[in-house]
Amino acid sequence: MSQLIGLFDSGVGGLTVLKHMIKELPAEKTVYFGDVGRAPYGARSPEVILRYSQQVVRFLLENFDVKLLVAACNTITARALPHLAKSSPIPILGVINRVPQKVVESTRNKRVGVIGAHSTIASGVYQTLIKQLDPQIEVFAQECGLFMPLVEEGWQNESATKIIAESYLGLLKYSRIDTLILACTHYPILKSVIAEVMGDEITLIDPAVECLKEVKEYLAANHLLSTTQKPDRLFYVTDRPDAFRLVGERYLDRKINNVALVAIETLEKC
Ligand code: DGL
Repeated sequence: MSQLIGLFDSGVGGLTVLKHMIKELPAEKTVYFGDVGRAPYGARSPEVILRYSQQVVRFLLENFDVKLLVAACNTITARALPHLAKSSPIPILGVINRVPQKVVESTRNKRVGVIGAHSTIASGVYQTLIKQLDPQIEVFAQECGLFMPLVEEGWQNESATKIIAESYLGLLKYSRIDTLILACTHYPILKSVIAEVMGDEITLIDPAVECLKEVKEYLAANHLLSTTQKPDRLFYVTDRPDAFRLVGERYLDRKINNVALVAIETLEKC
């Protein structure tokens, strides 16, 4: 069986999902697509997010023998997943589905925060799904648009990042939340600074962890689990492969060989 799992995001954020995948499903071959040349997605309209992600999905389907696709991005999951799934011959899982239940199990005081890119927060998806499960939970949402470029820049330990985090998270901190959803796959890379600002008593929820549970269950139920000894790890980006490799290697703590460039014009033809 030579089938791969395809993961896609606007940049390096989806590597937080890939990192969990390597840990939980080390035998799976993967192809990762980061649309860095058109990032951030979170500041774009739902129509543009859908068009960009449709092109990425078509590129992956046309060029690889994929058995499962994972939208390793909250913005794509929130804004485009139902449309993408409808027109795909293979299943596409996102990062949001399992999180609301996890939140309900985590919160003691029923005060929950969610931080993400503009489009994810504006979609109201987390707020709606959590309220459906428990209408008594109050959800405090905060856009953190600058976190994504800071991560792309590899600035997780800079003092400027801490100042920006304090500014974004100040209100949430005083909302007495006990659980905070990192609703952008870039944000777990900033986990230590977010935890430092929010304090130890706040539980941080990383959607990548919940997503991997769903991926595992899907593969097991469909007898698609791989047993490869040395799985391939392919990487494609739409700009600056070297910058991606640098940040990616640091986060994954392993070598990334052959990050290939895909011209945006090529994607637009998909
Ligand atoms: N990693 C994406 C997410 O989870 C980043 C969004 C963006 O490109 O702004 O939403």
